[in-house]
Amino acid sequence: MGSRERYRSGARLYDALSAEWPVYRIGRIEAIRMLDPQPGERVLDLGCGTGLNHPLLHAAVAPHGRVLGVDRSTEMLAVARRRAERRGLDSVRLLESDALELDAQRVVAELGGPADIVIATYTLSIMADPAQAWQRAIAAARPGARVAIVDMQPPTGAARLVAPLARAFAGFGGADLDAHPWRLLDRTAVGVRGRSLRGDHIQVRTGALPMTLALPDGVTLRPLVPADADQLAVLNDAAAPAVPVTPPADLAELVGIAGLALGLERAGRLVGFVIAMRPGADYASENYAFFEARGVDHLYVDRIVIAASERGAGLGAVLYDAVFAAAGAEGRREVTCEVNLDPPNPGSLAFHERLGFRSVGTQATKGGTVTVSLLAAAVPGATAASLDGGATS
Ligand SMILES: C[S@@+](CC[C@H](N)C(=O)[O-])C[C@H]1O[C@@H](n2cnc3c(N)ncnc32)[C@H](O)[C@@H]1O
Repeated sequence: MGSRERYRSGARLYDALSAEWPVYRIGRIEAIRMLDPQPGERVLDLGCGTGLNHPLLHAAVAPHGRVLGVDRSTEMLAVARRRAERRGLDSVRLLESDALELDAQRVVAELGGPADIVIATYTLSIMADPAQAWQRAIAAARPGARVAIVDMQPPTGAARLVAPLARAFAGFGGADLDAHPWRLLDRTAVGVRGRSLRGDHIQVRTGALPMTLALPDGVTLRPLVPADADQLAVLNDAAAPAVPVTPPADLAELVGIAGLALGLERAGRLVGFVIAMRPGADYASENYAFFEARGVDHLYVDRIVIAASERGAGLGAVLYDAVFAAAGAEGRREVTCEVNLDPPNPGSLAFHERLGFRSVGTQATKGGTVTVSLLAAAVPGATAASLDGGATS
């Protein structure tokens, strides 16, 4: 029996037989807690099945928000519909569609606008092409939308003993436990955070889509890797003294310990980049130490560089959009950075002021040769609590 047939015939028994309460519920609860949906937001629930996410999502976004559940199974959607009717979940809409052929325009129309949140729980590992389904789903979301993938892999550690059971169970549902679809967030989102539950069996990842709307034609945004170090060094050193001259090996190390490292690319060449640190990073910098000592949960922009040939086109603001989206997705309160006062950099000071940065101190650094203004900007919608650390995969 194929997985399509299984969900058709098993829809009515799905909630009872899917080990929801003893095993899987915790994954959806955790993802929705990390996404922190707000009243009025629009949520796309990909592969929604019988709508087990819907009461939780409705409670957060009602009365003005909307939840759109998409599934290819008429029978699973029928159960979701009954649930919504029985429980008065009037924010919930349902759309029958194969996720691999999802029409983004249709989703936006059903939601009344682009999605603020996309969630896929225990569904991508069943799909023939998870990457295609995910791309189609996020095409219906706004830049900066929060996203979550919850899925399964074989349990590890002591829980390994139940791995054969998990495989049999997942196999029955048609899931590929080696698909690891949460890794799609590493390529498509920023500020990715992870939780690992039930002996690593359940993997939860959340993040935010980059704010790419303002990208000029031909420019793309991608995560940096240490192998970019040579290109980064050329860009970096050309921007001195606004940023310190740094050898490629040190830049590779910085990328390695960064909480966020993104590059702007044109025709296969990097034309700008940002490197930012989360709290608690193993990073010996006087300015990072200043912000760490303040005790405010922050994402620290170590450096942001745009090639001289690309300046004035808004690329710096694009990178900052991605930084603020990541800080917001991670539940941080501030974005922090420093700008030189001596040698002076009035252009950069004015730019940061326009973005909402305010000076919270000054200090002499590098043995008194450079004086900086230490800047902080509040993350829009930040909650006081910072949640988990980095992602694992
Ligand atoms: C294990 S259930 C999970 C349902 C729900 N997300 C949850 O958390 O309970 C997997 C669901 O994915 C749906 N599904 C599988 N492949 C799909 C596809 N290509 N397009 C849309 N839905 C799909 C199935 O019909 C089923 O309802």
